[in-house]
Amino acid sequence: MVIRRKPFAALLIAASLAVGVPAAYAKDAPAPPAQAQKAFDNKIIKKIKADNMYNHIAHLAAEPRVAGTEAEWEAVEYIEEKFNSYGYETEIQPFKFENYYAPKVSVTAGGETLSSNSFTYTPNGVVTADLVYAGLGTVSDVEGMDLSGKIALIQRGEISFTEKVLNAAKAGASAVIIFNNAPGVINGTLGEANDDYVPAVALSQDDGEKLKTVLSEGQTISATVSVTDGRIVEETSHNVIAVKKPTQKKKATDQIIVVGAHHDSVDGAPGANDDASGVAASLELARVIANMPTDTEIRFVTFGAEELGLIGSYEYVDSLSQNERDRIVGMWQMDMVGSRDAGELVMFTVDGEKNTVTDLSAAAGVRTGTPLTYGQEGRSDHVPFYEAGIPSALFIHNPVEPWYHTPEDSLDKISKEKLQETAEIVGAAVYHVARPDTPALERARVAPKPVDYEKIVGGIQ
Ligand code: BES
Ligand code: ZN
Repeated sequence: MVIRRKPFAALLIAASLAVGVPAAYAKDAPAPPAQAQKAFDNKIIKKIKADNMYNHIAHLAAEPRVAGTEAEWEAVEYIEEKFNSYGYETEIQPFKFENYYAPKVSVTAGGETLSSNSFTYTPNGVVTADLVYAGLGTVSDVEGMDLSGKIALIQRGEISFTEKVLNAAKAGASAVIIFNNAPGVINGTLGEANDDYVPAVALSQDDGEKLKTVLSEGQTISATVSVTDGRIVEETSHNVIAVKKPTQKKKATDQIIVVGAHHDSVDGAPGANDDASGVAASLELARVIANMPTDTEIRFVTFGAEELGLIGSYEYVDSLSQNERDRIVGMWQMDMVGSRDAGELVMFTVDGEKNTVTDLSAAAGVRTGTPLTYGQEGRSDHVPFYEAGIPSALFIHNPVEPWYHTPEDSLDKISKEKLQETAEIVGAAVYHVARPDTPALERARVAPKPVDYEKIVGGIQ
């Protein structure tokens, strides 16, 4: 950073900040007038072609790209090949993760087979024993109860599924049935694997209440809980990293910009919008900026295994040195940026506060004719960056489309206008920092030409 290499300049800037000079410019470099600013924007915007993005999505969204599968790997190869074709040096960053495959479950009670569900991370096991009603399964509920060798029947509510299972297991239960406290099925998780668990399954409210009533009449019910073929398998996913070093060696700041998206999708969904759209926009920005003069390092990263818990982005951030983290001035995450059926483009930060990324992008939005709002939400790859102290924001259309995480998240729902608008805003904001005439940005400072932008209440709808 200019600042670290030139301590004297740093002092000057620090002094100027103290008296309220817009922070993104050194004292002797006033913000260019609006006209000039637009001319800079146009250098990048004019080159962005929605058709290119659309074609990337057509290729990527031919099938689901579940992390760890061959289809995800094919997406990784496609993305890397595209970055290379634009002249980028790329790196594929592999990482391992544990994938849980749901078991087959069945429950019979009093000779009747009931409709049941598994809890994610339940151990396997087949247990036949008498049912004992154990209330909500809290510590005080099971206190003094002899559940040895029994199947505990527990109602949903008050404490987590995990706590219920652990409390019952500690009191000796061999298996746990948790029934709903409202209509509908429970699709629950125990959070992580644990040797202290016993097999755990879910029943409907109706079935659970019936069993509870029979037990309260003093009758005995023998039941069988069967959980088989659940597996935890170690698999490998990958991040794709493409780097553009500053072209202006002499003017180079040592700052870094990260543009991100995730290339994996959920099982059963082609993920055209989630998030082939963000990958496509990243590829297109990479293409247009490849041969432009820049003084800032730009890293385009597409993450794997986002849908399984932001695993790829955590891996990437973990792999960064403190020095690199300090040099990243902002992370722009584009996730679901091309649906014709979604709402307005909104920037979401993890803490709900404005930051460098939102300031720069709100300013770019005003210049390109799309004023933006911001709000508070995690749920995408900007989270690990935020947690590492890096200004970051998620760009997403809000409310999201009804096809989210369904087989209908397909190419025919993609809007070229939406893609174009997002890529223009992110492109203009990124180029604002990266172009050689703008001196190094201070981290977490306001945009050069501050604009007002409103906060929306509530997270993503
Ligand atoms: N693209 C979504 C992000 C999202 C956020 C969609 C809010 C709809 C509303 C992302 O891929 C996703 O599905 N994220 C997961 C969370 C993640 C930690 C596994 C989610 O929101 O369920
Ligand atoms: Zn997504």
